Amino acid sequence: MTILVTGATGEVGRCVVTELLRSGHAVRALTRRSAAAGLPGGVEVFEGDLERPESLREALTGVERLYLFPVPQAISEVVALAAESGVRRIVNLSGALADDAMFADGYQVVERAVEESGLEWTHIRPGEFARNWLDWAPSIRAERVVRRPYGGAVTQPIHEADVAAVAAAVLLGEGHAGRTYTFAGPRSLTVAEQAEAIGRALGERVRFEEQDPVTAREQWVRHGYPATVVDWLFGIWAESAHDPAPLNEEWATLVPRLTGRPARTFDEWAADHVTAFR
Ligand SMILES: NC(=O)c1ccc[n+]([C@@H]2O[C@H](COP(=O)([O-])OP(=O)(O)OC[C@H]3O[C@@H](n4cnc5c(N)ncnc54)[C@H](OP(=O)(O)O)[C@@H]3O)[C@@H](O)[C@H]2O)c1
Repeated sequence: MTILVTGATGEVGRCVVTELLRSGHAVRALTRRSAAAGLPGGVEVFEGDLERPESLREALTGVERLYLFPVPQAISEVVALAAESGVRRIVNLSGALADDAMFADGYQVVERAVEESGLEWTHIRPGEFARNWLDWAPSIRAERVVRRPYGGAVTQPIHEADVAAVAAAVLLGEGHAGRTYTFAGPRSLTVAEQAEAIGRALGERVRFEEQDPVTAREQWVRHGYPATVVDWLFGIWAESAHDPAPLNEEWATLVPRLTGRPARTFDEWAADHVTAFR
């Protein structure tokens, strides 16, 4: 069986490639720039762009299963071409908040196209990635500090390798057709506790400084985040800081249920990425 991994040079995509290689199946990887891909041996690398469906024809030929990195621009044409090329199953990377109006032009478009493709499909909807906090690396490296508003907001950060492990389990296993799996990391942590965990990995204290939301908003917008996205995100964090949700057990237990392995903790994630923070 041949499996194509799109977004294969991404944080999750690379881990999907690694997981699939262990299965012994033929693994293909899609990238827009093969020279810079740095993918492991044993993978057949194809160039292609999910915004230009015709560029995918060669990569899709002979493929039975597809891991789909969500690019909405030409998704209907991409899934039609996949079906025409012989793909039978699509595992679609989506997000836990996919139903939010914020994602009407993104995840929702991709999910709908995948569902309408006539192929076997599964949406995997992870919550917040632990790796989002690589954004903290510059201030941790320079000053051993994290500055952010809403330090009391809680999340269940997930290791990218666990998102990939779920994707691989669904790509390779049976009984997942037509299912939507929403999931997250194994523990609920405040933002301040996540900063502490990075300190533990470093063996040095990382301070958390509560930032004024107005100042933070100005900085984020100056750094290029769209104001609508910042306002949406800060709204979620503000609500969570005010009234932290308890651990979502259903989300927290999906990784072990699907993969048969315990989910990685935030401490493990921090240890795996400690060089970025040194
Ligand atoms: N961050 C979160 O908290 C969170 C939570 C839930 C879901 N998600 C989803 O997870 C995604 C991130 O996954 P990831 O970490 O594996 O990705 P990533 O590190 O952002 O990398 C995505 C890869 O996709 C490829 N790509 C981008 N546009 C493409 C296109 N038009 N055609 C072909 N390839 C393209 C790029 O590879 P090349 O440059 O090599 O082509 C890139 O390396 C997000 O975009 C979001 O949809 C994120």
